[in-house]
Amino acid sequence: DNTVNAAVAALERGEPVLVHDAADREGEVDLIYHAADVTPKAVARMRTDAGGLICTALSHDVCEAFDLPFLADALEHPAVTDESLDYDERASFSLTVNHRDTYTGITDDDRSLTITALADAAADAGADAGATDFAATFRAPGHVHLLRGAPNGLADREGHTELGLALAEAADRPPAVVVCEMLDAETGEARTPADARRYAEEHGFVYAEGRTLLDALRR
Ligand code: 5RP
Ligand code: CA
Ligand code: ZN
Ligand code: ZN
Repeated sequence: DNTVNAAVAALERGEPVLVHDAADREGEVDLIYHAADVTPKAVARMRTDAGGLICTALSHDVCEAFDLPFLADALEHPAVTDESLDYDERASFSLTVNHRDTYTGITDDDRSLTITALADAAADAGADAGATDFAATFRAPGHVHLLRGAPNGLADREGHTELGLALAEAADRPPAVVVCEMLDAETGEARTPADARRYAEEHGFVYAEGRTLLDALRR
């Protein structure tokens, strides 16, 4: 499919893609970058043009290699739950982290450093496990939310977490992507698919429907 090829090619080139999950799921469009390509400017685009939560999704295997739990499994507090959301079985949230060389962790430079180092760690987890000492490189809590991909990717779950990771895999890149919801700056509501599509066209970015990606990438 042309859209899928274009989305994969965009990620190969280091450009972001916009992905709408499904009207009967979150109904959100996320701006997605490969984590290795994130720069301070990309972080600025995510917080100003997207405006949602800036998260880094890592594959199940990478999370296993670094012992990264679901947050809901790691914390004990009456408010912490892995009960179903309205739109999916569970959230993919894991820890929040900062690279140890950051100061506050929130600036564009700091988040960019944390995110690109996460991409390096993901590459290392595949090549030679143990090359990255996760706890020596990152500390938690921090300002970048980690998301844990489902074990069998899109076969298990159809979130932006898995859609983004499937695109990274199709682009033959390490399983680490950054996702951020696109919100309407005026209303604070999720940007509509039509509006997000317009944004994509204005900036020369690829817009993809989750359904299209699922049909092409799910196995
Ligand atoms: C974290 C989220 C986002 O929707 C993000 O896209 C990850 O969630 P999911 O995989 O469920 O789509 O809520 O900001
Ligand atoms: Ca290595
Ligand atoms: Zn999402
Ligand atoms: Zn969301």
